[in-house]
Amino acid sequence: MNDHRQSAKSTENTATQPPGAVMSNENTRYAVICRGVRHSFGGAVAVDGIDLDVAEGEIFGLLGPNGAGKTTTIRLITTLLPAGPGMVEVFGRDVSSHRMAVRRTIGYLPQQLSADGALTGRENVELFARLFDVPRAERRERVRDVLDAVGLADASERRAQTYSGGMIRRLELAQALISAPRLLILDEPTIGLDPVARDGVWERIQDVREATGMTVLVTTHYMDEADQYCNRIALMHRGRIRALGTPEELKEGLEPGATLEEVFRTYTGDQLDEPGDNFRDARRTRRTASRLG
Ligand SMILES: Nc1ncnc2c1ncn2[C@@H]1O[C@H](COP(=O)(O)OP(=O)(O)OP(=O)(O)O)[C@@H](O)[C@H]1O
Ligand SMILES: [Mg+2]
Repeated sequence: MNDHRQSAKSTENTATQPPGAVMSNENTRYAVICRGVRHSFGGAVAVDGIDLDVAEGEIFGLLGPNGAGKTTTIRLITTLLPAGPGMVEVFGRDVSSHRMAVRRTIGYLPQQLSADGALTGRENVELFARLFDVPRAERRERVRDVLDAVGLADASERRAQTYSGGMIRRLELAQALISAPRLLILDEPTIGLDPVARDGVWERIQDVREATGMTVLVTTHYMDEADQYCNRIALMHRGRIRALGTPEELKEGLEPGATLEEVFRTYTGDQLDEPGDNFRDARRTRRTASRLG
């Protein structure tokens, strides 16, 4: 496995980059580099040898139909799944040999609910502050700051179970931001939200990114927001990257005037022949989208 390990620096050589890779120069630095990454659950291949570069500071969208392998890829990057074949580096550190150091650089908003309905918004974020070792003396102020940044200052003393879906997702965003991550990973941050609430989540993400320069890796099924907010997009299908580029490159590459949805359908059109996944995926999506009980 060490043989095809490359440092962040070595990818400055364009010969090592996959097609559609970010236009790099000697100053380009990478938040994430994946080479030949694979993962199977039992005999089922979920991630089938992907190459991916996420440049520092960009908003990178990982798109694809249900079951494409997006969450599995993310869990490999976050070290929540053990490293397997291939290489994953986060800010130049190999995830298999620097697990804890990598985790400290990442804020993660999982696809499933991560907030506790019985706790107030503030208590939820405080819990994450303790989990991420935010120094005790700074905790109170940091919790207040991130709740403020996601627009929940006024609701912070209410139990999360009284929040709307959009407020819950913003609370979870606050949880992911409490460690002041260099890399924010968001797995369907706007699932099930109305258009105004979706904009609200994205505005918060953009504000924090502008203020801190953090990198954002995001999945979404909403093509309009991917088109609007992502600097680059990878289209994933059946465990592989099928297309990679800026939204404009992908659309122009299909045909002049094409929409991102048309690009998506073109590269992932044979998605309906995966029996077995549908029930689990639907149940998971609904659980995530539903309000806290
Ligand atoms: N814990 C698991 N055990 C067994 N199979 C799994 C597990 N997690 C994912 N899979 C399978 O791996 C494949 C990829 O799943 P993954 O969750 O990565 O897809 P996804 O692109 O995130 O889909 P979605 O858009 O529905 O969230 C699917 O076939 C899925 O059924
Ligand atoms: Mg997923």
